[in-house]
Amino acid sequence: MNFSFVSGDATKASGELLVIPLFEGELGDTAPSSLAAADSALEGRLRGAAAQEGFKAKAEQSFLMHTHGRATAERVMLLGLGNRARFNPEVLRLAAGRAVKAAQRLKVGSVAFVLPATDSAENAVRAVVEGLGLGLYRFDKYKSSARDEKNPAKVAKVALVLPDGTEKSKGLEDALALGRRVAEATNWARDLVNEPPNAVTPTVLAEAARQAAKEGGLQVTIGGRKEIEKLDMGMFLGVTAGSAEEPRLIHVVYTPKNARDAKRPPLALVGKAITFDSGGLSLKPTEGMVEMKTDMAGSAAVLGAMKVIAALKPPFPVHAFIGACENMPSGTAYKPGDILTSRLGKTVEITNTDAEGRLVLGDILTWAVEHKPSAVIDLATLTGACVIALGNYIVGAFGEHDGAVNEVLQAARTAGEEMWRMPVSELQKDALRSEVADMKNSGERWGGSINAALFLKEFVADTPWVHLDIAGPSNSPKERGYLSKGGTGVGVRTLVEWVRLRTETQAANPDAYELPAAPAAKKAGKGARKSARS
Ligand code: BES
Ligand code: MN
Ligand code: ZN
Repeated sequence: MNFSFVSGDATKASGELLVIPLFEGELGDTAPSSLAAADSALEGRLRGAAAQEGFKAKAEQSFLMHTHGRATAERVMLLGLGNRARFNPEVLRLAAGRAVKAAQRLKVGSVAFVLPATDSAENAVRAVVEGLGLGLYRFDKYKSSARDEKNPAKVAKVALVLPDGTEKSKGLEDALALGRRVAEATNWARDLVNEPPNAVTPTVLAEAARQAAKEGGLQVTIGGRKEIEKLDMGMFLGVTAGSAEEPRLIHVVYTPKNARDAKRPPLALVGKAITFDSGGLSLKPTEGMVEMKTDMAGSAAVLGAMKVIAALKPPFPVHAFIGACENMPSGTAYKPGDILTSRLGKTVEITNTDAEGRLVLGDILTWAVEHKPSAVIDLATLTGACVIALGNYIVGAFGEHDGAVNEVLQAARTAGEEMWRMPVSELQKDALRSEVADMKNSGERWGGSINAALFLKEFVADTPWVHLDIAGPSNSPKERGYLSKGGTGVGVRTLVEWVRLRTETQAANPDAYELPAAPAAKKAGKGARKSARS
């Protein structure tokens, strides 16, 4: 998509479709100048017709009208934003997504989009650019009908009409560039999620990581079974044992150019990367298994974020750690009853081979914290229980370090990704008690997402840690705003925003970079290893 900024009369802006977002009540006397101009070009018929059709600018509402040659655009669309008092950029992002989907249905090639007057033009630009970019996304490469289409509908040009009194500026250009990057990276992550599991194997995922790293000038190291064995990742090896696909260990590193910045503790991003989760010998029923290509969405989000971070160039290193494999049943598969020894030295009795994510993540988290990060975050499609608790649109955020958790929640709010803090309560601890090993990998059903978080917690030692259970929001069951059915790329925006937030706090106070202290955490397990490798 090609974007440009324009000022002045919206009806003169070039674009086949003129989109005018409106708040409730703005159809009346408080009409913004863009609406007044369009209305007078249409000889006062626009507002009347919209009102007659019941358009009140409520969120989700829109109204479309032909201009019959009375404006530059062939059509004008009024886009509801709802109540102004409840406005935040996510409202605009969702609305822009709806508008671009309508444009696509109308086979419109160019759009003029009026930016509503809000408290921050930069935030508005970013939300609109992201909403348009994300809303345009489709995954139809396996549809022969789409493949054979001669002129696929595609909005190629967007003119952003600045609000009265707002001039084009460096800040707006930057917001536009960032919005484009974020939308692109999120769509890239969506592709990885939507691709079938026979296309995105651990090897292919690792190659995608390599490609992304190369383009962004990042360092990347990819290992196979041998390297995983060398790192004594017994839990990871257990999960991959039943699969005919080679597992992959992926390490992507961004290092700042400035030598002093390069020496700061890194931020560690960890993503679940089960490219297909059959459940293993504890086989899933067919209905539950069919969507399990999604089980690598955490790693897709982490890699997507790394693409943006490569361009953001924050003043501290950022590392991505990913363990990719399939969870399959076979004669070589790990079994209920098996006891696995983790990299940390803790032993785990397997009671359900479908609780595989926490096993791989446990070893990867151990590896990540050995790099002494200032904080570690993991994104994982970890539990069905979290979907039961929070549904398909809200991420569960776990962690005991209040400073780190609150920072991530704040970043999520800015990014327009809904999250809700969940407890990591020791009250649930009995669920993982084993008679024969240090712990078991799955316990009672109740509080399932908490039990999973308690398991992961065993592997992060004292490092400030945030765990995002994205099992629900990784996939959208329906079209909504800028979301299409399928992979959402959830997490990319929050990770990018978190890095931006930490960049700001560091710029404000370079010597006090450490996160605010949280209640003292307990020491790592007795078998804790000391040294980091690679
Ligand atoms: N990948 C699943 C979780 C999942 C469920 C993701 C629904 C997306 C949508 C995970 O590996 C899993 O199977 N979890 C089990 C854990 C249980 C066996 C303790 C679950 O949630 O049922
Ligand atoms: Mn599973
Ligand atoms: Zn899984």
